[in-house]
Order: sequence, then C-alpha cells, then structure tokens
Amino acid sequence: MMSTVDGRIISGNWGDEQLTKTYAGFFEKYHETFESQAWMCGRVTMERDFTDGVQPEPQKPDSPIAREPFIGDKNATSFAIAIDAHGKLGWNSNQTGGDHVVEVLTEQVSDDYLYYLQQKGISYIFAGKEEIDFSSALNQLAELFPIQTLMLEGGGHVNGSVLNEGLIDELSLLLLPIADGTPGSPTTFEVSSYLQKKPATQLQLTEVQQLDEGVLWIKYRFGNK
Ligand SMILES: NC(=O)c1ccc[n+]([C@@H]2O[C@H](COP(=O)([O-])OP(=O)(O)OC[C@H]3O[C@@H](n4cnc5c(N)ncnc54)[C@H](OP(=O)(O)O)[C@@H]3O)[C@@H](O)[C@H]2O)c1
Repeated sequence: MMSTVDGRIISGNWGDEQLTKTYAGFFEKYHETFESQAWMCGRVTMERDFTDGVQPEPQKPDSPIAREPFIGDKNATSFAIAIDAHGKLGWNSNQTGGDHVVEVLTEQVSDDYLYYLQQKGISYIFAGKEEIDFSSALNQLAELFPIQTLMLEGGGHVNGSVLNEGLIDELSLLLLPIADGTPGSPTTFEVSSYLQKKPATQLQLTEVQQLDEGVLWIKYRFGNK
C-alpha cells in the first residue's frame, strides 16, 4: 500500500499529477520485489483501477446453479482475486494484466451473475452467506489454485476486513510526504461499522528505506504472526 502521513490512500486527492504518477511508479516497482502467485483487491478498487467500471451483463441459465466453486482456467498460474460480495463487477475477459480473475462471492449472488461469470470463463468461489468470510476465502484459494502467497493490495475496506480477521502477516507501506486531511477518505485499514472491531494489532518494524522524492518504504511484521 501507499499512503499519506495521515494514512489516506486516495491518490485523486493529492493534487500534483506528475508526482502522483511518480509515486504510482514506485508502487509498481516495489510490488515486483515480492514473490506471490496472486494479488487481491476490493470491489471498489477493482472497478476504479482495473475494470474501468465495465458493467456485468447477467444472463438467465437453463437450470439453477449450485453454490460451489467454478474453475474458469485450469492452467492459470497467476491470479487477480476480486472481493465482490454482491456480484457487482463486470469484466471484458477472464484475465487482467495477464492474471486469471477469481471472484470471491457470497451465496446471495444471483444465478444470472454466476452464469455470466461461467460464460466469461471467470473462476469464482463462495465465502460466506452475506458477508465475506476471509478465512474461508483464503483456505479455498490455497486448496483450489496454486496459490501459496497472496498480496493484499487494498482498498482500505478490504484491508480492514482482513486485518480484523487477523490474517495479515506482513505490511509493506510506501509513506508519502503528503498531509491529505480529506474528511471521510479511506485510510490503509478501515474496519466497516457492520463488523465487530477487534483490538488494534501490534506491528514489528523490520525494514526502512528512504527512496527518492522523500518517500519512505517501511516493512512490518504483524505481532500475531
Ligand atoms: N494508495 C494505495 O496504495 C491504494 C491501493 C489500493 C486501492 N486504493 C484506492 O482505494 C480506493 C478504494 O478503497 P475502498 O476502501 O473504498 O474500497 P475497497 O476496499 O477496494 O472495496 C471495498 C468493498 O469490498 C467489499 N468488502 C470489503 N470487506 C468486505 C466484507 N467483510 N464483506 C463483504 N464485502 C466486503 C465491499 O464491496 P460491496 O460494496 O460491493 O459490497 C466493499 O465496498 C480506490 O480509490 C483505490 O484507487 C489505493
């Protein structure tokens, strides 16, 4: 993740477009230094940064569809995981940036949306009836796909949900020299009000590097791991 000194993560509020592009370049560069088979984002981040807001076109299946996992590409080796509790995301194809798309859904999603994903060859799993159970999601991802390490890449609400379930073991943060202050703007970890908030987590600092443009690259291990 990258955030301002006040923890805010929405780059659209940072003014200087050129500098924001430079920061995004750092994000991509340092992302590549981690070895993982998958990356995971929330529905809002996927819509804004990866699908360009493509709308789904649900279609009626001939018969009801069971709530069981669907594998759209058995040969895939790298994965983009989308947290999409209500089945809102549309896709042009079953991959983004070369990574096979896996949707993490809840059981309330309509058969029409499941049929749409099947027609597109997009994999999906179910984790929870109405809210995402991240523990179940991560277990299924490891069992059904060749995924051992997963990089969680925002936004703040998905990060907050996974944090709250105690499932994060490392944080890599680019701390930007910006004081944002935008009211209500998501921070690195946002635990939604419908979740039962657990106590704060203690982190252990493992590495700090000063980069160009006054950016700090900070790594922590989580106290519970
Ligand atoms: N600075 C950075 O490093 C960075 C990195 C990534 C993203 N971003 C930015 O962050 C912004 C989006 O962040 P965000 O916090 O608003 O959204 P988000 O985390 O991308 O997505 C939140 C959505 O995920 C679903 N969700 C999360 N937790 C859930 C749970 N426990 N159960 C069910 N569903 C759950 C909900 O989807 P539904 O609403 O569909 O139910 C929720 O609205 C974007 O502007 C993006 O560009 C910044």
